[in-house]
Amino acid sequence: MEIQPISGAIGAEITGVDLAALEVDEFAALHKALLDYGVISIHGQALTADQQIAFARRWGDIHAHPYLSGLDGNPEIIEIVKEAGEPNRFGAHWHTDQVFTPAPAMATMLLAREVPPVGGDTLFTDLYAAYDALSDGMKRMACRLRTVNTYDKGTTRSKRMGAKVLEPEKEAVPAVHPLVRVHPETGKRALYINDTRIMRRFEDMTEAESKPLLDFFLTHETRPEFTCRVRWQVGTLGLWDNRRLMHLALDDYQGHRRVMHRITIKGTPTIGVDPSEFPT
Ligand code: SIN
Repeated sequence: MEIQPISGAIGAEITGVDLAALEVDEFAALHKALLDYGVISIHGQALTADQQIAFARRWGDIHAHPYLSGLDGNPEIIEIVKEAGEPNRFGAHWHTDQVFTPAPAMATMLLAREVPPVGGDTLFTDLYAAYDALSDGMKRMACRLRTVNTYDKGTTRSKRMGAKVLEPEKEAVPAVHPLVRVHPETGKRALYINDTRIMRRFEDMTEAESKPLLDFFLTHETRPEFTCRVRWQVGTLGLWDNRRLMHLALDDYQGHRRVMHRITIKGTPTIGVDPSEFPT
């Protein structure tokens, strides 16, 4: 197995591995690569739905999406489809997956089934680097803040994806998380921020009061030097750590179809930093 970093910050491409016949030591190497690089991609994996689900289960239990239904026959897989010429899209804003649940998905896996001839890449950014680059004063304040996160059932998906929304008339239930999240496996700190379509405000503050600071964090967090870009081919499997990264699906392939099969892996409730580490 070979691991080739794809940027100075995060991301690696892995070759020399067959995910349908993975040895125990190869899985351990993939796990380490996920923790080291945040996102890994492996081309040439023509997995069946059952093989994709079996590979996902090696990482943990599958996280059922609370608001979207999966494929008929394989409900573990959410099909992300954008038809040629469709103006709407799924995931085309910076976010971490399922931050609107009390225990957000630990990781997300996409298997590319149909890709445009060019474009349709996914961008990632490193929330560890974003936290580390803050001043001590901002870290002290950030460690005391909690965010209120609510799923947007409405506007950000295609017609076909919209048909998959469960109980569209029912309000989504918000989830509260620390702004600075401690990674449960590495112990590192991540600035756990999302676009304001999901991360609406800080706890005990209004949306208007929260927005300028949320905007600052989002701009800070998406500095180009913290990012990488994953390019998809049919059969590329990408896997990323939602506890460390945000991502954005680029919408730059009008006139072409793109189909991805997504599985999310269950996470644990978020843990913040003890504010007494930063006396006022
Ligand atoms: C997602 O936001 O999970 C989907 C990303 C993509 O389609 O590239």
